Amino acid sequence: MRFEAGDRDLFFGRTRLTDDLVRLAHAHRVTAVFGPSGSGKSSLLRAGLIPCLREAEDAALRPAAIRILTPGTRPARDHTRLFTPAAPTGETWLVVDQFEETFTLCQDPAERRKFLDLLLSARAAGSRLRVVLGVRADFYARCLEHEGLAAVIREASLPVGPMTPSELREAIVKPAAAAAGLIVERSLTDRLIEEVGEEPGGLPLLSHALLETWRRRRGRTLTLQAYEAVGGIHGAIAQTAEAFYAGLTEPQAGTARRILLRLITPGDGTPDTRRPVDRTELDSTGPAGSRCPRCSTRWPAPGSSP
Ligand SMILES: Nc1ncnc2c1ncn2[C@@H]1O[C@H](COP(=O)(O)OP(=O)(O)O)[C@@H](O)[C@H]1O
Ligand SMILES: [Mg+2]
Repeated sequence: MRFEAGDRDLFFGRTRLTDDLVRLAHAHRVTAVFGPSGSGKSSLLRAGLIPCLREAEDAALRPAAIRILTPGTRPARDHTRLFTPAAPTGETWLVVDQFEETFTLCQDPAERRKFLDLLLSARAAGSRLRVVLGVRADFYARCLEHEGLAAVIREASLPVGPMTPSELREAIVKPAAAAAGLIVERSLTDRLIEEVGEEPGGLPLLSHALLETWRRRRGRTLTLQAYEAVGGIHGAIAQTAEAFYAGLTEPQAGTARRILLRLITPGDGTPDTRRPVDRTELDSTGPAGSRCPRCSTRWPAPGSSP
């Protein structure tokens, strides 16, 4: 679960990046934040950037309004009104999370161009809009197809890389202490830093492993022993998934298998990668044994191994 603007008291480990983003976004009317899925972009925008703007010491730098949106299927039609500044003075900030939806959910090139024009209108002289985009890094090339966006990327883009070991330590220890006065065993923190540090997009795994460790806490302490018992950074998510799957009825399990298999592109000598699927494709997932009309993969029978 991403952090929201109200979670700022639990949001740690991104001070440096938040400061960099605030500086960059103040210096440019349109800024783009790039990072892999799970790197913490949404959380950075919502629980890092937004509270920092609202609480700026210099009142002149505080936005007149901050609006957060995700593009969806018809971004120009649905969000045009958000591009009218909120107040006669001051700046209205638009934070566009999941900007890649402009290329995935929105399928209409004219609609897409209109939305991009709206966003880039913030760069016009006299504009009182400021735009910050959060974009999945694998859509970098799609953004470069558009001249205006390419200029934004050249002038004002910020990569969301992995946290440093000391940032990770903060992100592990401080929320536990702040939310519930919990203590994380030193040996557990060290292990997590070692394991997550080597894992691109490892934060969601960290989050889940800590949740499961918390369920097995001893008094106020999250222990290495509990972490190992729940299966560690990879095992914890696998155990939860297995337990969930085991609770499904046979038809439900068959449907789950068909959906999950459609969400992977098998690698050919390279690692398997995720495959985003739209609802219409899932709705048309056919009976076991039939072939997908798009990629001609055969849907497996419920209960058969992949
Ligand atoms: N600073 C942080 N500390 C701890 N966990 C984090 C932090 N930032 C993100 N996460 C966790 O990482 C996961 C992915 O975060 P999210 O903001 O949704 O990333 P993205 O938008 O890049 O996919 C979520 O489970 C979130 O709780
Ligand atoms: Mg996100």
